[in-house]
Amino acid sequence: MTLTDAQSSWVALVAEVPRAAFIPDTIWVDDHCGDGLVALSKHTDPDGWHAAVSADAPVITQVNLGDVQPGQKGSFASSSASQPSIVVEMLHALDARPGQSVLEIGTGTGWNAALLSRCVGEHGRVVTIEVDPRLAQYARCALAHAGYDPLVITGDGLVGYSAGAPYDRMISTASIREVVPRAWLEQLRPGGRLVTPWGTDWSNGVMLTLTLAEDGVATGGFSGDVAFMRLRSQRRARYGWRPSDRDIERAQISTTACRGSDLDRMLNPEKGTFAIGARLASCCLVVEWDKHGALHHILELDDGATKSWAQLEANLNNPAPFTVRQLGPRKLWDEAEAAYDWWHEQGEPRLDRFGLRSRDGQQWIWLDEPDNVVRVVEPSGAGGGDLSGLAG
Ligand SMILES: C[S@@+](CC[C@H](N)C(=O)[O-])C[C@H]1O[C@@H](n2cnc3c(N)ncnc32)[C@H](O)[C@@H]1O
Repeated sequence: MTLTDAQSSWVALVAEVPRAAFIPDTIWVDDHCGDGLVALSKHTDPDGWHAAVSADAPVITQVNLGDVQPGQKGSFASSSASQPSIVVEMLHALDARPGQSVLEIGTGTGWNAALLSRCVGEHGRVVTIEVDPRLAQYARCALAHAGYDPLVITGDGLVGYSAGAPYDRMISTASIREVVPRAWLEQLRPGGRLVTPWGTDWSNGVMLTLTLAEDGVATGGFSGDVAFMRLRSQRRARYGWRPSDRDIERAQISTTACRGSDLDRMLNPEKGTFAIGARLASCCLVVEWDKHGALHHILELDDGATKSWAQLEANLNNPAPFTVRQLGPRKLWDEAEAAYDWWHEQGEPRLDRFGLRSRDGQQWIWLDEPDNVVRVVEPSGAGGGDLSGLAG
């Protein structure tokens, strides 16, 4: 990575606040059997621990929301210390200055809160929110031990922390699904900036950098690739729904003109993935590569809210058209193809041509300019903090 001067100053900051001091003695690593995550202890494997902690990679610090018995494997990561180069990229975008007030959502180990504290200095103020009480307590101790004293709040970061508002800067280290919570915008000072990982149901893993203007209109742009875990209440929200095998037998079967090259463009984050997610509402995608042998992939699309499901069987070894199965009121594969065609008609825009605007309680994704609406993600009056429809 080539660093600008500003980025270099953040890299120097990271060197001043060593990550290792915030990492617990037990971390979680891939078991390399595709079977899950196994515990790695600093005491029994110090070299492995140090190698993991000093690499430019995320370090998983909690699995299965902390609910694992000794000796058990974890099936998903529920907290981590983020990848240092991504941390630098996000801090650079945030541009927090000495004396400012900053709210962080997702305290995790406390490392990023320490970096922020260092950045805003003794006249600044950092509040950080962690939803998991055990993680919050761990971070409080690690921060105190390292000589930092941000306010660590145990709570749901979706509602921010109004007692400390307004904030000059806000940063989330957990990803949000499409909508910037209204509480965040209400607690940001006009002229303030917000940086958060952002995703749709189709794809997760871009960074949104948003500025709030004096008139209350917030406008931001996307950059990538920052794959973070979702905020807890949005984890697998509205997706992961699958009909019964009996229902699948009744699915409408068709073929598609889509070829392997189209699939590549639909699924490649460097190509159309972001745009399709931006265009297509509530359509979760799971791809099982090589499911039935090399180059024989299965894509499943679902919208649990309307009980709609689609499956594409793409056997790239076979010249026959791919088979599509669709079930429910929405024809999800047809919608995904329409979004792909739209992307092509727009000149195949990449991520940096898209943005998000919030005005009068309404939020939408735009292309090229804020008035060119791609999709409204939050109708006005819907209430940014109301996520009660999500599965959690
Ligand atoms: C990638 S980790 C954070 C990394 C952290 N900033 C660090 O420096 O170690 C994401 C964290 O967000 C927390 N989190 C998830 N949902 C949250 C919510 N609704 N409110 C506050 N924290 C949340 C998770 O428990 C997890 O610890």
